[in-house]
Amino acid sequence: MSRILITSALPYINGIKHLGTLAGSMLPADVYARFQRARGRETLYICATDEHGTPTELAAAAAGTDPASFCAEQHEVQHRLGRQFGLSWDHFGRSSSPQNHRLTQRFAQQLWEAGFIEERVTQQVYSNADKRFLPDRYVIGTCPHCGYESARGDQCENCTRVLDPADLIHPRSAVSGSTDIEIRDSKHLFLRQSVFSDKLRGWIESKRGTWPLLVTSIALKWLDEGLQDRGITRDLAWGVPVNAFEWGPNPEGQTPDIEGLAGKVFYVWYDAPIEYIAATAEWADAKAQEAGTGPAADATWERWWKGPEAADVKYVQFMGKDNVPFHTVGFPCTLMGVNSRETAPWKLVDELKGFNWLDYYGGKFSTSQQRGVFMDHALELLPPDYWRWWIMANAPETSDATFGWEQFQSQVNADLADVLGNFVNRICKFTETRFEGIVPEGGAPGALDEKLEADVLAKLREYTEFMEDREYRKSAAALRQLWVLGNQYLTEAAPWTAIKTDRDRAAVAVRYGLNLAALFAKVSEPFIPFAAEKISEGLGEPYPAVWPSLDGQGVLSALPPGRAIRAPEVLFKKVENEQVAEWRERFGGPELETQA
Ligand code: 2FM
Ligand code: ZN
Repeated sequence: MSRILITSALPYINGIKHLGTLAGSMLPADVYARFQRARGRETLYICATDEHGTPTELAAAAAGTDPASFCAEQHEVQHRLGRQFGLSWDHFGRSSSPQNHRLTQRFAQQLWEAGFIEERVTQQVYSNADKRFLPDRYVIGTCPHCGYESARGDQCENCTRVLDPADLIHPRSAVSGSTDIEIRDSKHLFLRQSVFSDKLRGWIESKRGTWPLLVTSIALKWLDEGLQDRGITRDLAWGVPVNAFEWGPNPEGQTPDIEGLAGKVFYVWYDAPIEYIAATAEWADAKAQEAGTGPAADATWERWWKGPEAADVKYVQFMGKDNVPFHTVGFPCTLMGVNSRETAPWKLVDELKGFNWLDYYGGKFSTSQQRGVFMDHALELLPPDYWRWWIMANAPETSDATFGWEQFQSQVNADLADVLGNFVNRICKFTETRFEGIVPEGGAPGALDEKLEADVLAKLREYTEFMEDREYRKSAAALRQLWVLGNQYLTEAAPWTAIKTDRDRAAVAVRYGLNLAALFAKVSEPFIPFAAEKISEGLGEPYPAVWPSLDGQGVLSALPPGRAIRAPEVLFKKVENEQVAEWRERFGGPELETQA
């Protein structure tokens, strides 16, 4: 049986995440992790905050603090919100951790010594007023093509032309507005990605048909356009320092320009994916510290990532489509290069699940414009299961999906309140009033009950297969159909009628009904863990549960007759029209559609 290693794209440190970020990475990864744990597989779900880069420096300055304190605070906020949403990370790390510093530097050294890193002199914009280098997009000016006055130095938002800061007319700093800027030469390191083109293509081709089409087509498009070598260092203060003074000569016998590289850091997109591995080391260290045994031995976490020890690991990544190039090209290049120096190679991703966008009324959720619903606000309005269910049932898998309050209301009310909640409530309440709250004995199953069992088993097999394949819309639809089978059964078996004439018949129906509820709790847990826990508690069942066996044995007989149960408190209150009206007012509603 294989072990399952799961990573979701690392959320940027600045700002609380919106539902779009949740939909494209952290939540599907969580659903998958919960499912795999329930299946009995050793599972490790790793995530972390992505902390480096210019936006962090600027956000910290805007908040009147330094990047380290800013990140420490924001990390805690994201950690708390993630937990409140039920994200079952085994570890939620930080890309600024000492473990990531070490590994990022070690990889760079190996890449240099293997000849995959090259030094180049580049021209960078320096702002005298801000006393810092400015990344291209922080230089603004007039677009030479269309005359737009606030064009960014990397691209004009108005005419979409790709620009170089030197193209701009009246260039100025986006940080301070100062025009006192100049171009300076600056030494930087480039990863020679082009060397890996053929190897990468072979690897991606081998994934065709198993990875989503979205993913392989983005990756192949990048390769078709010709891989550019990639600058992996920046003129910034906040980041992993370039440790060139530690490096030996490259295969040509050259040593790095220690002086020219002094004071630089690695580019955030170079160190962030390495944090997947480093966060696993953080996880092991944290566990060792809890146990009071000091830092963990490398072997305790390397068994997830490296060499023959990791041969039974299936590594699954989750991310939005904008992240696909970095994970199919950038990070694999790093690992392929590093692996040329390793006897026990690092694992490359086995399965990559990419998502399209979740929109808010047809326009992008936006952190900078505060458009859409953010995790903290979402939790103020409703418990996490409502959001988890809606997002996953509408996962932007084969195309973009769009959030709207009206559709959200009708779907959660129908699925969660009317179908699942109503079912569990009906059967448990009836047991309390007519069977003293005890799983009843007696009676023999008839044709209706046997048919139910067969239908449930077939649906459960289908659902399980979709979950294994990470097909979330299909999984959610199959799960909903399971819930519907329960309601249909209760309506047909009608224990409230049967009890008037045939107590044994009613007992059978109630027993089956309660077992259905127990089954629903088990298999709904990946999507709606909080409701699943409440149902399990009411039925005296363990939580989190083991996935039911699909071999046909006893799928509806987990509850021993004679066990006392109690109806859980209301599982899902309906979302009312007044609430929707208020939220539409607060967050924006259909009128945004026309602005998108
Ligand atoms: O796009 C993003 O939100 C990035 N912070 C994702 C990084 S994923 C990984 F490489 F760390
Ligand atoms: Zn323009």
